[in-house]
Amino acid sequence: MPRINKTAVLALLTATSSIFLLFQLYYYRQHVSQNGPHIFGRTVHLSGKDTQWKVVKKFMGLVHKYNLPVFLVDTASLSILSQGSMLLKDSLVKEPHCSFLCTNRDFVTFALLGNLWKYDAGLVSAAEEKGFELLEVRGKDPRLVSMDDLSGNEIPLHFLFRLDGYVVHAVVLYERSGNYLWHGLLRLKPNMDRKFAPFRKLDYGQNAGAYDRPELVLTTLDGLDVRIPRNITGFLTEYSQARFLECRYREARSFFQLYPDDVSPEAMDFRMKAKALLHLAARTLTKLHVPFWLSSGTCLGWFRQCSIIPYSKDVDLGIWIKDYRPDITQAFQKAGLPLKHKFGKVEDSLELSFQGLDVKLDIFFFYEETDIVWNGGTQVKSGKKFKYVFPPFSLCWAELMDLKVRVPCETVDYIIANYGPTWDTPVKTWDWKSSPPNVQENGVWPVQEWDEVIQVY
Ligand SMILES: *[C@@H]1O[C@H](CO)[C@@H](O)[C@H](O)[C@H]1NC(C)=O
Repeated sequence: MPRINKTAVLALLTATSSIFLLFQLYYYRQHVSQNGPHIFGRTVHLSGKDTQWKVVKKFMGLVHKYNLPVFLVDTASLSILSQGSMLLKDSLVKEPHCSFLCTNRDFVTFALLGNLWKYDAGLVSAAEEKGFELLEVRGKDPRLVSMDDLSGNEIPLHFLFRLDGYVVHAVVLYERSGNYLWHGLLRLKPNMDRKFAPFRKLDYGQNAGAYDRPELVLTTLDGLDVRIPRNITGFLTEYSQARFLECRYREARSFFQLYPDDVSPEAMDFRMKAKALLHLAARTLTKLHVPFWLSSGTCLGWFRQCSIIPYSKDVDLGIWIKDYRPDITQAFQKAGLPLKHKFGKVEDSLELSFQGLDVKLDIFFFYEETDIVWNGGTQVKSGKKFKYVFPPFSLCWAELMDLKVRVPCETVDYIIANYGPTWDTPVKTWDWKSSPPNVQENGVWPVQEWDEVIQVY
């Protein structure tokens, strides 16, 4: 089925581009024979779209010349494309025009795969020869930054090609060790022209972003060969939740200067096992399309020390209750992680624990209310219920232990809610029923429900 669709779409696109080429030939003949910008006696105005089209064509020319591995990531263009075949038919009927690459914005965005491309200084002069003004925004290479080395080389993060008031934004994507693509923040240096482009409106650059490597297809759009993500709606969904937070290496280094890291064999062993468990949990939940984030001590470890806290003894994940699926338990069991306990129920205070190799995986389900979110806790011996209350948060990507994982974007608020304002001082004795500042007593499970809501294996 997808194959037939693809063939049909390709045929349609080929037809569109052929008609466009014929029109172009015709246009140029008329243009030349009449020796001026007149066709059929009408004056031709270079409309905004014609300018855009011309600029994109020149940019694509550069792309071919310098083998820049670019693909279309412009959210406005991709939205038009995802709206499907109606528009394609439309563009067949009417005379060819720039339907996809020209939008009502004065810029278009392409991604440039940094690892498939070797920086060529000739690009700058070639762009200038074509009339472009070029702004290159560089930033630190995060792949080289760590707690031991905060310096980091500068690499190109964004290119802006401007011509006739129209901007082509090329955002450079780099492969990171968690096997995902990353782009940096667009941060102008003090001497840069703040009016060069509508920076605040750009799709990419307000934040850093993380993406899975998309499958690309080569297609013809508005008469130009362009690579686009195969699954456009999938890519647009990913775009809407792509914000990436870098670990705070500088602060982590200061933390370790105050509290030296535990490098005992036991601590190293725990970290290795916790890392393996985290990777296994991520694989299992991703297969089920269940989004999760680092919670409690695992989140604190990422935020405070870019690592796993060796004395935490478990790995803690959060999941929205709306994403709960009954087959989660079975999936973990299949992955070699038997259920250790199940507290609460889907409607209230659900919590699952799985037993890994010497390390426990705790999954807390979060319930959303209008101005708070919370997860529940249950004390086995008394049946007492607890409630841990957090301010609402959204999810961002981050990297921990060579893995792309989500964390609450408002990380420090989440951590302060859970650990209080002194979260940056290590505490080794922690009682989950009394230590967290956000814990509230929440009644007792009725005795007749205990078999359901307190399951220990
Ligand atoms: C495209 O992505 C969407 C959203 O992620 C997904 O639901 C859909 O199954 C994907 N389609 C294909 C053909 O892979």
